[in-house]
Amino acid sequence: MNKLIVALTLGAASLVLSGQALAAGNAANGAELAKKYNCASCHGADYKTPIDPSYPKLAGQHADYLVHALTAYKRGTKAANGRSNPIMAGMAQPLSDRDMADIAAYLQGLPAALVTKR
Ligand code: HEC
Repeated sequence: MNKLIVALTLGAASLVLSGQALAAGNAANGAELAKKYNCASCHGADYKTPIDPSYPKLAGQHADYLVHALTAYKRGTKAANGRSNPIMAGMAQPLSDRDMADIAAYLQGLPAALVTKR
C-alpha cells in the first residue's frame, strides 16, 4: 500500500513537472521561430523598438500574456475571447500551441522597456 502511494505521488509529481516544462516553452527554439516568421520586421530587432508606435513592444512581456494574445489572434473574433487584427491573424495562423509557448519564452527573456507595478 505504501509503495503504491509513493508510486502515485511520484507519478503525479513528474506529470506536474513535465507540464511546467511544456508551459514554460523553449526560448532557443522560440528565437528560431521568431526569425523564421520575421516577427522583428514589425516589432523591431530588439522587440522593444517597433517600426510604428501603434505596434506593441514585446520584449520582456509576460509569456502567459503573449501566448494568450497569439491564441486570440489565431482564433479570431468567432471565439468569445478572440482578437481581430488582419496582420496578426495572418501571423498567428501557422503557429502551434508549442510554437507560441516557445516564442513567448524567448520574448519574455529579452531586455525590456516594459515595467510592471507590484
Ligand atoms: C507586418 C507586421 C507584423 C508582423 C510581421 C508581426 N506582427 Fe505582431 N503585431 C503587429 C501589430 C500591428 C500588432 C497590434 C495588433 C492589434 O492592434 O491588435 C501586433 C500585436 C502582436 C502581439 C500582441 C501584443 C500585446 O501587447 O497584446 C503579439 C504577442 C505579437 N504581435 C507577436 C508577434 C509574433 C510572435 C510575430 C511573428 C510570428 C509577429 N507578431 C509578427 C504587427 C506585426
